[in-house]
Amino acid sequence: MNQTPSPTTSHLLFERATRVIPGGVNSPVRAFNAVGGDPLYVVRGAGARIWSAEGAELTDFCGSWGPLLFGHARPEIIAAIQQAAAEGTSFGINTPREVEFAEALCAQIPSVEMVRLVSSGTEAVMTALRLARGFTGRRKILKFDGCYHGHTDAMLVSAGSGLLTGGISSSAGVLASVAAETIVVPYNDLAAVERLIQQEGSDLAAIIVEPVAGNMGLIPPAEGFLAGLRAATARCGALLIFDEVITGFRLGPTTYGTLCGIKPDLTTLGKIMGGGMPIGAVGGRAEIMRQLAPLGPVYQAGTLSGNPVAVAAGLAMLALCRSENPYPRLATLGRQLADGLNAAARQAGITLHCACLGGMFTPFFMANAPTDLATVKQCHTASYGEFFRQMRARGCYLPPSQFEAAFVSAAHTEDDIARFLAAARETFATLGKKP
Ligand SMILES: Cc1ncc(COP(=O)(O)O)c(C=O)c1O
Repeated sequence: MNQTPSPTTSHLLFERATRVIPGGVNSPVRAFNAVGGDPLYVVRGAGARIWSAEGAELTDFCGSWGPLLFGHARPEIIAAIQQAAAEGTSFGINTPREVEFAEALCAQIPSVEMVRLVSSGTEAVMTALRLARGFTGRRKILKFDGCYHGHTDAMLVSAGSGLLTGGISSSAGVLASVAAETIVVPYNDLAAVERLIQQEGSDLAAIIVEPVAGNMGLIPPAEGFLAGLRAATARCGALLIFDEVITGFRLGPTTYGTLCGIKPDLTTLGKIMGGGMPIGAVGGRAEIMRQLAPLGPVYQAGTLSGNPVAVAAGLAMLALCRSENPYPRLATLGRQLADGLNAAARQAGITLHCACLGGMFTPFFMANAPTDLATVKQCHTASYGEFFRQMRARGCYLPPSQFEAAFVSAAHTEDDIARFLAAARETFATLGKKP
């Protein structure tokens, strides 16, 4: 542990924060309720490292919950942000770069013929749902248990991420009448989808899915699941929405839908494509997208939508994807980490399965790969908490919840993975034979 004493520790900051910010955090996933200890306060990041308020250096395997494909403060992205900011941070008027950015998204994602930029993943999903209802004239939305699609009312039903961590199945303040329009079925359960469509198909506006679930930990789609959803929605006239806020540009220079050859009607994108700046997008078939105002009757707007600084960061991120193609390396690093962790756990007699896809991974404290929320809930979350705390003390920062995906970035090195595995071996030795 590298710790330089500082008068402004995370502990003191958290104490102050709890007096003025509910729970001391501006997003519940930043609270450490599930793992214990004081939430971290970060003062700086560079590459794969972050530095806490008390001066601890940590290798970051959370990566701002996914967007930092090239690590922290990548110089090309920072230079683009600085240049754009110097030219003006917001106009509320169109800028040339947003045209370039939208063209690039349409070029790299064949199912996206037109795209509307927004400022967050939540906004992107909110817009996609409204569009789906406006286009189809239907009411119901089908989502999957444990998938998280941001905090718009309709999606706060059996959601993953912070709600799952906090044990909340639906939020207070969401009208029962709104929640009633959202149907929830288990992830990877095509038979349940088919049954549902038989009952509600004629009033089903859309099925929304994380094509690779990342918000109950990493759960890849079962063979045929996504193709089955495509076929089922096409049959009943509902739209298929792939929420790629985590997976878009994370597993390749495009969406997961493109990589696996499945064309959703709409795709939602977020944080990654802005290189860590606040941005989101909804895109899809032109016929549907033309329903958006000012062309069509579905209203959507935003003062900061297509913000010039965020778009400049996004263009720099896309340019880096083209020039460096980080994806093969991310997959190699992810595989090294997951295989190494599984081997270390086996050796230490720890029950663990580390799931991995590209640069995404989740160490599940259970014997086999979970396939849905019911299986993921069998994880030994107390062991994850202990693992998290000890890994943090050994210089590795993971998401502070068992039910989240962790990430490697192009800034991580093989040495970082080796250090992670060494820290994990030391940690496992103290965890003993639990659970
Ligand atoms: C799949 C998915 N959709 C939507 C969102 C919401 O995005 P944001 O937090 O930018 O509102 C998230 C956030 O993590 C997400 O993982």
